[in-house]
This record gives sequence, C-alpha cells and structure tokens, in this order.
Amino acid sequence: LAEQAKRVAAEFEFPAEGVRAAVKEFIRELDEGLQKDGTEMSQIPTYVTAVPNGTEKGLYMAVDLGGTNFRVCSIQLHGNTTFSLTQSKVAIPRELMVAKTSKELFSFLAKQIEGFLKAHHSDHYAGTLRRRATISNVGGFKQEEIFNLGFTFSFPVHQIGINKGLLMRWTKGFDIQDAVGKDVCALLQTEIDELHLPVRVAALVNDTVGTLMARSYTSPGKTGTLLGAIFGTGTNGAYVEKLSKVSKLLNNKDAGDFDKSTGEMIVNTEWGSFDNSLRTLPNTSYDAALDKDSVNPGIQMFEKRVSGMFLGEILRLALVGLLKDPSVTLFRDDNSATNDVHSTTQIAESSPIWKQWGIDTSFLSICAGDSSAGLRITRQTLDKDYGINAVSAEDAEAVKLIANAVGKRAARLAAVAIGAIVIETGRLGTSKPSGTKTTEAKENLEPARGTVDEVTEDDVIDIGVDGSLVEFYPEFESYIREALREVPEIGVQGEKSVRIGIAKDGSGVGAALIALVAGSVEKPEK
Ligand code: BG6
Ligand code: GLC
Repeated sequence: LAEQAKRVAAEFEFPAEGVRAAVKEFIRELDEGLQKDGTEMSQIPTYVTAVPNGTEKGLYMAVDLGGTNFRVCSIQLHGNTTFSLTQSKVAIPRELMVAKTSKELFSFLAKQIEGFLKAHHSDHYAGTLRRRATISNVGGFKQEEIFNLGFTFSFPVHQIGINKGLLMRWTKGFDIQDAVGKDVCALLQTEIDELHLPVRVAALVNDTVGTLMARSYTSPGKTGTLLGAIFGTGTNGAYVEKLSKVSKLLNNKDAGDFDKSTGEMIVNTEWGSFDNSLRTLPNTSYDAALDKDSVNPGIQMFEKRVSGMFLGEILRLALVGLLKDPSVTLFRDDNSATNDVHSTTQIAESSPIWKQWGIDTSFLSICAGDSSAGLRITRQTLDKDYGINAVSAEDAEAVKLIANAVGKRAARLAAVAIGAIVIETGRLGTSKPSGTKTTEAKENLEPARGTVDEVTEDDVIDIGVDGSLVEFYPEFESYIREALREVPEIGVQGEKSVRIGIAKDGSGVGAALIALVAGSVEKPEK
C-alpha cells in the first residue's frame, strides 16, 4: 500500500521548474489583463486609489457575502490603527446559493441586516420603526441614523464605480442566473429599502480588497501593504498597481470618475481563473474529473487546485481511485495489529467518501497536523466524520501522505501568485544599497542559497492574508516560502523580505474603510 500511496502522492508534485514556468505565465496574464477586457485573469480596476494609514475614524457598517459565512458587522474605527467590531455570522443556506431568483438571496441578506440593527443599533433602527408607522413613508431618516455600508461581495464584478458593479459570473458553487450582468449594489439597496432600513450601500468591495485595506489600516508600514490575498473557500488577490499601467481603464471613455492624484489603483486580479487554458498548471486525472463535474467546467482552474472548496474533493477522488483498484489494499485489511479487538475496516454505505464534495478540506488540515501515535486523530476522524471504521495505522499513513501532497501542491501554487505579483510590481530589493550581496539562483535550477542581508523596514513587502486554508492548514505559509525561494528573481533574500500577516475577518474592516472614503457617493440607482 505504501508504494501505491506514494505513486498517487507523486502525481501531485509540482517541482521548481513548474513553479517558475507558472510565474512567467502569471506575469504575462497580469499584463494582458491590464490592457484589455475578456482575458483569463480579469484584472478588475476597483476605483480604490489609496490605502488607509490607520488614522481614519468613524462608525460604519459592512456585510460580507462569499466566504464560509454571511456576516453583518458594524465597525468603530478609532483612528489610532485600532477598531472595535460587532458582528453576527450565519451560514448561507445552500438553497439560496442556487436560488431561482436573486431576490430570494438579496432579501435574505437585507433581513439579516435588519436583525443586526435591531439587536445592536436600536438608535438607528428607530428610524425604521418611525417610517413604518407612517402611512405615506414620507420624510427621510435623521442624518445621524443613516449607516454607510460597505458591501463585501466576493465574486467577479465588473466595477463601474465605487458603489456600482455588474456581476460577471458566479464562483464557489453559487449559481443564480438572473443576477449575472446586474448591479449587485442596486439589488441589495432595493431589498434594504423595502424594509425601510436607514442603510446606504456606499461601497462595493471584493474580499481581497477589504483584506488589503484592513491590513494597511492595522499595520501601516513604511512601504505600505502591497497585496491582499484570500486562501479560503476560494482564492484571489488584489494589489496596488501603478495607474499608468491600467491602460484599459485609462482608455475607456465610459469609465466612472475617480481620484487620480495618488497615481495608483487597487486591482482585483481574480486570479482564481489564472491559466484556465492549462498552459502551465498541473493537471492530474483527479483535477480533470473535479472540473468536469463542477457547475463551471473550464473556469476558475487555478482556484480548483488551490482553495478550500476543492482540495477535499481532490483528495476524495484520489482515495476513491485507490478503493476502486482491486489490487490496492486501502481500507481492506484485517487490522488486529492496530486495534484492540480483531477487526476489519468497514466503510459505511452512507459514507460521504462516496459522494461529490464528501470530504471537507478541514480534513486535510487535520491530517497535516496529526502527530499522534499511529495517527490516532486521523483514524478517529475517518471513523466519526466519514463512516470508515477500524482503519489501520498504515492506511491512515497512506491517506495522510496523499492529503499532504494535495495541500503542499496548493501552497506551492499559491506561491506562484504571490511571487508573480511581487516581481510584477518591482518591489524587490528597491532600497538595496549598492554593494550589497545578492543571492542568485544557480544555473542548474537549484533553489537560490547564499548570504542573506538583514531586511530593513524599507525592504519589507507586506502581504495581508485571510481565509480558512491559510489560517488552519499547518505549514501552508512555509510551503509558500519554500517555493518562493525557488524562483530565481526572488531567491532567499526576496523571500525574506516578504512579510505575510493574517488580517483575520479583515474584509469587514476593509469594507468600512472604503465606505468611509466613499461617504459622499450617491445611493445606487435602481
Ligand atoms: C473572512 C473574510 O474572514 O474570510 C471574508 O471576512 C472572506 O471576506 C473569508 O471571504 C475567506 O475565508 P473562508 O475560509 O471563509 O472562505
Ligand atoms: C472567488 C471569487 C473572488 C473572491 C475569492 C475569495 O475566487 O471569484 O472574487 O475574492 O473567491 O473569496
């Protein structure tokens, strides 16, 4: 069995040459996406032209749709890099993700906002009660009752203004056709108005942009934060780009108005769709099977190899492949040696292992973190959560080997995205004094080794990250770092200057910050 498990694990190897080729292709797609529409990587201009510096103040609201939970929060920014957050979370009911009409989803969101106001901001909710009590609904809210709301909507949106954006396509299992092409801010505002809530959708924000903003607010470094990245249910990144390079926006006569004074704009890459044509991405038979049976075949091919929604399924397909091979003994042995009583592994007929999406990605994190004797924790989880009883230590080892291979490949792919953006933005070693030793990759493609200089505050390349995978998968960051060192342009020195920090639940704060900037923007048209 060990040999067979090793064979499957080897299918997920993504060697240094693969990383380098993918980084090159990633840079090409970043550039292409800045120039024209309809490219694999969308490179969406966000109309956000500055990152905060920690001094911003005020009370804002934010809602967040697109991760594991729908969240409503209010954020008090204290103006000294700190904030207080009040929030409520609910899991989005599965049926709303594939509802017949977008109204079903958006009215659910508005109801959550109402519940939140009632529970936590009765002073603001007073306006709603007053308006509902009048027959005509004439008369507005008091100025102090109105909340500016940042709407974190973590899907690809063609943004045409700070609080206006048309949904390009759904990702991460959502599929509500009538919403595609519509302004999602207007869809939400309509439902908010139907409930007479004193809330104005002031800004539309991708979670990556929110993460970038939140990280900049809480850790304002000398060089600013370069990139906000999500490695959670989905994966994506937004980074600070020179405005002069965003030529598709500058050449577009119909583009909305924005402040050009900073010479920068945050661009939402939508890197989940990097290399949909599989020029450089690894592609096992399991990846192909997952894609074929997904709601969006051929799309989000990078995301399908990297993010939490998919890694469990890749592992499941690999294990089922072994189970269907009569020459493999996985989960078939007599396990008397491991278990106290004489026992043979049993897989329940109802085991989720037989069903699409049956294995959760959190199982990969459990395997990766399991250092118990005989992998007791992994065996218990297989029993409790997956209906696979009396697993031997050898079988658990085999499962862990394959699970780790899937996780490690995901992290190395994540490094491709991070590495490409670090190179593309020219942030590497810009402050290095002349005469400093640099590290170079050897000709034979060995990872760069050599003397490493002290990283000064001027050299730091700051990256804010969020999402269940980067938060809970042990070693995710160290695998990313290992792969970064294998890219010649980055090497040991460059990798050392990359600072990765979790911006936990950051996109709510980020959305509040953008709502602050957008404070004077009009209500979205319906
Ligand atoms: C949350 C952010 O913390 O992380 C969300 O607030 C983001 O905006 C999410 O979408 C991503 O993580 P996950 O694992 O919930 O998809
Ligand atoms: C998906 C979405 C993207 C989002 C990411 C992380 O890739 O398309 O907008 O940022 O998931 O949540």
